[in-house]
Amino acid sequence: MRSRLVSLFAAASLAAFAAGATAQTVKIGVVLTYTGVGAEFAQQIDRGMQMFVKLNPNAFAPYKVELVKRDAKNPGGADAKTAAQELITQDKVDIITGVIYSSNAIAMEPVVTAAKKPFLIMNAGTAWITNLSPVIARVSFSMWHAGHAMGDAAAKMMKAKTAVVGYTDYPPGKDSLIAFKTAFEAAGGKVIDEIPMGGPGKVPDFTPFFQRAKDRKPDVFFVFVPAGDHAVGVMKTYGALGMKQAGIRLIGPGDITQDTKLQSMGDAAVGLITVHHYNANLDNPANKRLVAAWKKEYGADSTPDFMAVQGYDGMAAIAHGVRANKGKLDADSFINSLRGWKFDSPRGPISIDPRTRDIVMNEYLSELTKSGGRLVQKNIGTIPAVKDMCKELRVDRCGK
Ligand code: PHB
Repeated sequence: MRSRLVSLFAAASLAAFAAGATAQTVKIGVVLTYTGVGAEFAQQIDRGMQMFVKLNPNAFAPYKVELVKRDAKNPGGADAKTAAQELITQDKVDIITGVIYSSNAIAMEPVVTAAKKPFLIMNAGTAWITNLSPVIARVSFSMWHAGHAMGDAAAKMMKAKTAVVGYTDYPPGKDSLIAFKTAFEAAGGKVIDEIPMGGPGKVPDFTPFFQRAKDRKPDVFFVFVPAGDHAVGVMKTYGALGMKQAGIRLIGPGDITQDTKLQSMGDAAVGLITVHHYNANLDNPANKRLVAAWKKEYGADSTPDFMAVQGYDGMAAIAHGVRANKGKLDADSFINSLRGWKFDSPRGPISIDPRTRDIVMNEYLSELTKSGGRLVQKNIGTIPAVKDMCKELRVDRCGK
């Protein structure tokens, strides 16, 4: 059974209709894991996309936008590939977007490349994905944005000398390991163990992996898991094994401190240092506006997280591409119109690097603190305008 959900945003202004303009409809194919392990992520991106349209009702004018949504179901790749094929051949979409898991983006790439459809990535973080095809641009992040910055901060700010790295064993996990290690060792640290910790499709029992890390007695334990329930499992195991009391500091990209999961993490998470491009506590006008509108729409206890903001910014990028190309979305012109595009995002100023088609953005160093009985992100430093360092330094597969 294939799932097909369609929604229409009437973005054309009434004034344009009154003037007799034809409202051309742009079809956007959205591939997300609407069910299964990544369902909460999909909901965040979906809501972020809707929030952009709600807060910027004329962004697409005079064009109408139709979203055709397909379920990628799991991180396995095969269902995501079929979804992309169907969106292109049956639904005749103009652009493909969404995608939580790198494995799915990698599986979809030959399909979008052969069809010459623009492919705008709203999450998948493996650095080299954008090098696979000129039809790809990314508004989310590369694992190197946070991983490399965290490696540098661990050595220079936290004065760590030794690290163990634990990572979910698929492309963004391996990328996070290389990113962290490259910066940490360049600044004088040493990675003394590298631990693959299961796959993205199911939350593993982290106990044996964390026990191995604890036995190595590193100064810091850098962990990448694909956010959500994986991250809650990380925090619970870190607490249960008494690693904090043993003097091992847990660090990582902000995937392990996703805003939507903070309150399920327990007190072991207090003091955790992460680097990321977004948390709901960021103090800027665009973020305050988004968070207030979000709470009004989805409830006082709800919050956008980094995936929501990536959906929001993705819609902003598509709106720009649609208008810049007067509704004609061939891959070359759409991607070219994004080169150098700048936007005032809830995560701070962002742009698309004209050379790499990847995002340039601030990275924020945060400490998890407790305030009024709740875990909150305290922002303790900003690294401005960070590029994907994998492509800048040409390390490993980004040296192509
Ligand atoms: C990915 O598969 O690229 C991915 C998924 C979830 C994350 C980060 C990266 O939190």
